[in-house]
Amino acid sequence: MDDKTHWETIYRTKASDQLSWTQTVPKTSLDFIEAFQLSRSARIIDIGGGDSHLVDFLLEEGFRDITVLDISEEALKRVRFRLGDKASSIRWLVSDITNFQPDVDYDLWHDRATFHFLTERSQVNRYLSVARATVHTDGYAVIGTFSENGPEKCSGLPIHQYTEQELTQELNIGFQKLKCITEDHLTPFNTLQNFLFCSFRRA
Ligand SMILES: C[S@@+](CC[C@H](N)C(=O)[O-])C[C@H]1O[C@@H](n2cnc3c(N)ncnc32)[C@H](O)[C@@H]1O
Repeated sequence: MDDKTHWETIYRTKASDQLSWTQTVPKTSLDFIEAFQLSRSARIIDIGGGDSHLVDFLLEEGFRDITVLDISEEALKRVRFRLGDKASSIRWLVSDITNFQPDVDYDLWHDRATFHFLTERSQVNRYLSVARATVHTDGYAVIGTFSENGPEKCSGLPIHQYTEQELTQELNIGFQKLKCITEDHLTPFNTLQNFLFCSFRRA
C-alpha cells in the first residue's frame, strides 16, 4: 500500500480517539508559536496537519492566514467539517510534502509527527529543500518528532527517531536552532509517547 492510500484508509476508518497522536489541546505547539510573537497576519503552514486542533486554536487566537497541508484528503475533510463556516478562511492543500511547491512564502512552518515518517534519505532531503523554499529569511519552523525514547512505529509505519543533535544537524543548512524540548504525549489509550520538539529560525 502506498503512503497516500495508507493515510486515506486511516482517516476513513478510524475516529480521532482511535489515533495515538490525537491531542485535545496542542499545548506544546501553541507555546512554541506564542514565543515567536508573530503578528496576527503571519502566514502559517501546518505540515501533515491531519485532523489536529491546532488550526482551531490558531483561529481562536486571531491568526488569519493559515494553510493546512496533508497527504490525506479525508483528514482535511474531517477538519473542514468540524470547523464549519470557519473552514472557508483556511487554505487546504492535499499534497505529499516531499512534492510540495509553494507559491507563496511563509512566516511559520509547523510539523508535529510528519517529518519522522520520512525514512529514506532522498525523502528527507526533499522535505528539507521544500522547507527552505517555503519559509522566508527570519521565519520560523517548529518540528515535533518521536525522540530516541519514543516509539519505533506510528500508525503501523516505521518512523525515524530523532535526538536533538540529529534534528538540529538535519536542519543545519538554512535553519538555526532556537530551542528543543522533549515531552511525553499521553495517547487516547493512556500510553506515553516521548516526543522531541525543536524550533528554528530561517537563516
Ligand atoms: C501522526 S499524524 C499527525 C497529525 C497532526 N500533525 C497531529 O499532530 O495531530 C501524521 C500526519 O501526516 C500526514 N502525512 C504523512 N506523510 C505525509 C507526507 N509525505 N506529506 C504530507 N502529509 C503526510 C498524515 O496523513 C497524518 O495526517
